[in-house]
Amino acid sequence: MVELRLPPNSRITKGKTYPSASKGPRMKIFQIYRYDPDDKANPRMDTYELNLDECGPMVLDALIKIKNEVDTTLTFRRSCREGICGSCAMNIEGTNTLACIKPIDEAGGEIKITPLPHLSVVKDLVPDLNFAFEQYASVKPWIQAADTPPPDKERLQSKEEREKLDGLWECILCFCCSTSCPSYWWNGDKYLGPATLLQSYRWIADSRDDATDERLDELDDPFKLYRCHTIMNCTNTCPKSLNPAKAIGEIKKKMVARVGKD
Ligand code: SF4
Ligand code: SF4
Ligand code: FES
Repeated sequence: MVELRLPPNSRITKGKTYPSASKGPRMKIFQIYRYDPDDKANPRMDTYELNLDECGPMVLDALIKIKNEVDTTLTFRRSCREGICGSCAMNIEGTNTLACIKPIDEAGGEIKITPLPHLSVVKDLVPDLNFAFEQYASVKPWIQAADTPPPDKERLQSKEEREKLDGLWECILCFCCSTSCPSYWWNGDKYLGPATLLQSYRWIADSRDDATDERLDELDDPFKLYRCHTIMNCTNTCPKSLNPAKAIGEIKKKMVARVGKD
């Protein structure tokens, strides 16, 4: 099992400043968290000035411009640039979100960018998600059916059965929700967190899956599920407008219904 490591326990210092070579009416300051495990120095905040007339509209466009033209050492994850892959999740102006769909104009005067909170930092804006994905794998996020699939067609669902997956299948596993959850901050080694619990419910709610009892057995634990105290940070922060707190509530309801049947 991967060991859960805490973020470096060191003070963040003021770092370098990179003024823009070109000037214009739309200048913007970006303060960006920098940490390199190899240089043995404290994390620092570097300051970059950009002329927005020469930059795309999203925060990810600014990060890419900085990396391409100002400071090639800046490290961050991104892939799709359209809110689908979940890899550009980071904290922008105090809120966990996706840099590729966060307009620069929506953020404040000076934009402060840090990694997703309460995770170990690999480098700069790249958090260590190994443990989070290990937790995700622990809920067996795949269909478990008692019968073998028909050889010549798909497993079918009614329209109503399929609709039960809406609000669940759209999750892109960005972990913005889990890393905004105070319960996950303090008990993330044992509490599964909203992202993984929403994914677990995605399979519990699937009419084609026959492992509901086993899935609920696995979650019936004082920490894995019941550390959710309905604080709702998860739902408030989800950049896909999903409701992980509701999914967790649905799992709890299924637990209660099970006890009623015994
Ligand atoms: S509702 Fe539950 S999962 Fe969501 S932030 Fe609150 S404690 Fe965390
Ligand atoms: S529920 Fe939303 S915030 Fe959480 S992992 Fe899925 S897409 Fe990201
Ligand atoms: S780059 Fe894929 S979600 Fe932002």
